[in-house]
Order: sequence, then structure tokens, then C-alpha cells
Amino acid sequence: MKNYYITTPIYYVNDKPHIGHAYTTILADTLARFRRLVSQKSFFLTGLDEHGLKVQQAAEKNGVSAKDHCDKMAPAFLELWSKLNIQYSDFIRTTEDRHVKIVQNILNEVNKNGDIYQDEYEGWYSVAEERFITDRELDSGLFREAKKIKERNYFFKMSKYQDALIEKIEKDTNFIQPTTRKNEVLGFLKQDLSDLCISRPKSRLEWGIEIPFDKDYVTYVWFDALINYISAPKYSEDDKHFKQLWPADVHLIGKDILTTHSVYWPTMLMSLNIPLPKTIFAHGWWLTDEEKMSKSLGNVISPLTLVDEFGVDAVRYYLMSEMVLGSDATFSLESFIKRYNSDLANDLGNLVSRVSTLINKNFDSVIPSPNNSKNDLSNKVNNINIEDKLDNFQMDRLLQNIMDFVRSINGYMEKNQPWKLVKNDKELAADVLYNAAESLRIATVMLSPVMPEKCKEILNALGSTSSSLEWGSLKPGEKIPETNPIFPRIVE
Ligand code: MSP
Repeated sequence: MKNYYITTPIYYVNDKPHIGHAYTTILADTLARFRRLVSQKSFFLTGLDEHGLKVQQAAEKNGVSAKDHCDKMAPAFLELWSKLNIQYSDFIRTTEDRHVKIVQNILNEVNKNGDIYQDEYEGWYSVAEERFITDRELDSGLFREAKKIKERNYFFKMSKYQDALIEKIEKDTNFIQPTTRKNEVLGFLKQDLSDLCISRPKSRLEWGIEIPFDKDYVTYVWFDALINYISAPKYSEDDKHFKQLWPADVHLIGKDILTTHSVYWPTMLMSLNIPLPKTIFAHGWWLTDEEKMSKSLGNVISPLTLVDEFGVDAVRYYLMSEMVLGSDATFSLESFIKRYNSDLANDLGNLVSRVSTLINKNFDSVIPSPNNSKNDLSNKVNNINIEDKLDNFQMDRLLQNIMDFVRSINGYMEKNQPWKLVKNDKELAADVLYNAAESLRIATVMLSPVMPEKCKEILNALGSTSSSLEWGSLKPGEKIPETNPIFPRIVE
């Protein structure tokens, strides 16, 4: 079975990790865990983008060498990943030897293929974007810190692959997603594509991977960074590990880095004759509600502080359910509390308490036996198509479907009232409670990629460790413990 290979962008280490970094990484982690749940092997790569002007400048500001700066910043990211319960398969830093060597091999290869040439270039350079910008972009006023630069550099013949790229994007509807982003890239490709400047003279920027055929230059940070996706799985023509992973199933990115991923990267791969990734998926941005949250009002709340206050799983659940993949979403404390109280405290948390209390009180803390009569719940659960939602990147819809199922378990309890049944028809009460508990177990297994720790607690409350999605895996006769509320209500 092929590994499902999923990547996040590699993050710049010029600043501390923020919501953008946290979000994409949680999303990739959740998708990878979901793939494993539906029994597909998955390989999840994340890492750090450590070269380039921005990092060099951050290091200068802190009065340390660029390498020391990176070594100091890397643990901050690793700590955050551990705090957010991120289970990556590999973590790559672009200053590692394994990456540097492959970037240099690739530069030699592209050069040998005749796709690199030297030329004098004069143009506007945006430090914030780390790239040359066009006159039109300069006029837009969107690019701060633009300066005019004239220098000799190495160029990659990106324009040579323009037609092939357009054809690929038009024909393969999975390639760039969602469609709005695909159209955006096609719009960009209507103009003639220029070649890509892939070097920086060391006199201007030292912090980068040396160009193997000219020691006076370092590699442009994006040309270096994009290669992480194949250097981590050890790109070489005959490496077994590489062949097992590549092509990647999805590169998850934010919408602001669409051009580099859907124009630079595919043309680089075309020059190398390496297959293209199957999908590049660009998600939207988290916006904060300016009016309700502003620095001057002093009520800015970072999602990362919410983790300390309400626990990592609640924040993971909020981020995964609140954003429709592809669109922007607004982050606010108000919407966090609303979603937490309605979905987690009310629908899920109360159901756990109800089921476990009834079993504890009336069935000696032992999972009762069902009479295996037909019930709607076992049918309803079969209608949740996890793989379909994953294939279509509909995380919010998938979670909605699972929560709808949780609500229908609550409805089943209301309808059958096992607390009344125990008094006059214990066998029927046993059946109802078994069905509710088993449905809750399956819903919990389905939610575990999003909330790994809390779901373990719920399974524990049901006396189960099974991660099976099959109906009937909950064993009658299993002892269950007393439980405390899993998601205590947030009182405002
Ligand atoms: N180093 C490059 C990526 C190289 S990949 C070969 C980079 N790094 S970054 O640290 O600046 O940004 C990483 C990601 O954070 C981007 O995907 C960006 O879209 C995302 N976000 C930054 N702020 C964000 C929000 N407010 N909301 C969601 N994601 C946003 O770019």
C-alpha cells in the first residue's frame, strides 16, 4: 500500500511560531491521523526554512550568527509541536547536511540539463517577500521595503516550462485546489513567465547554500526551501524510500505562498524530470476580529494561550471545525467559547456523562449486553464517509457529520429514555445503553485524529481501548470507571 505523503510549508525561523504555523501543522497532523484511522499508511513531513535574508537579518538584530539563531529558534517550534500533540514522521531543517547536499546535486543536475544561465539583472527587490518584484507589483504599494538592485546572477529557465505547466493545471483538476486558486494561477500564467533568479551574490547575502559551480554565490532561499519536499525522503533516482513516498499526495500551504508552490516548484521538477506532487492545496487565512480584538483594547487573545487555558484538544477541534478549507475564517474568543460549549460540553461531554452514569448506577459499572435488535444508530454511522471527505478536503463537513451523529445518539437516548426503562424493562434498558455506548465509542474513535487525548479519556470512560470503526467492538461485561466531566462548560 502506498504511503499517503503529506507536507506542511517549512517555516521561517525569523520569528516565534504563530497561529499560521500552528494551524497548518495541526491540519496536516489531523489529516495524517485520519488516513491512519482508515488504515492507510501516512508520512507527514514538516520542518524549518532557515536560510535567506529574513533569517540573516533576524540573527543580526539579535547579535548572533545565523546558525546560532536557527539553533536557538528550532526548539521553540519543536516545543510547540509537542504541546500541540503533533506526530510528524520527519522534521527537516534546511541547514542539515542531508538537505544541503541534495540541493547542490539538484543545482548541478539542472545546470547540466542546460536550464541555468548567468545574466545581469536590474530590478526592484522586496525583502519581505524575498524576491524580485515587477514594476506593477511595486506600483501596487503592497510591497514594503522594496529596493532597486543591479547584479549578475544565475537564472533558472522557468519560462521554458510555461506551456507544459498550463496544460498540466488545466487538465488535472486535482493538481491545484481549491478551484479558485487554480484559476488564480492560470490567470497569473496568462502573462509571459519570466525566468527565475536563483542565486544571490555572497557580497549581499551570505546565509544560504553555496552554488556548487560558483563559490561567490548562494542559492535563492525559495529554490532551496522547496526542495525539502524531496530531500527529506532522500531524493535520488534509485532510492527505495523516495520511490515509496514520491509523488507527495498533498502539499498543504497558505494562500500567500501559492505562486512559489504552483509555478516555481512544478517547473523545477519538470526540469529534473521528477513527477509532480498530486495536489497543492491552499487554505485561507485566520483573521482576527479587529473590532472585538485590538491591541489598544488590550484584549488580544492568541490561540496558543487558549491551549494553556482550555487544553490542546479543544483548540484543535475549534481550528479544524471552524475553517472551511479554502476560505478565510475569523478567530475570536467568542466563537471559540460558543463552539466549545455547544459541541464539546453540551453534545459530546454530556452524552459521555449520561451514558457512563447510567451504566455505573444501574448495571454495576459493567457494559450491558445488547439484544442485537435493529437500531438506527448502526445504520447512521455507516453513512459517515470519512475517505470521501478527506479526498475532498472537507474537514469541517466531516466533523459536522460526526457531530450530527453524536446528536443523533442524544436523540436516541431522549426517545428511549433508558433511565425510565431500567425500572420496568431492564433488558431493553441494557440494549439501549449498549447501543448508545457503542455509537459513542465509534464517534469517539472518529474524533480521535482531531482530539487524541480527550478521545482516549472518553474511550477509557467506556472501558474500551478499541480503535475499530466496526459496530460491535465494545465488549459487554467490560468494567467502566467513574468519570469526571470531560469538557466542563466554560462559564463566561
Ligand atoms: N518559509 C516559507 C515557506 C516555504 S515552503 C517550501 C514561509 N514560511 S512562513 O513561516 O512565513 O509561513 C508559513 C505558513 O504560515 C504559510 O503557509 C502561511 O500561509 C501561513 N500563515 C501565516 N499567517 C497565517 C494566518 N493568519 N492564517 C493561516 N495561515 C497563515 O512562507
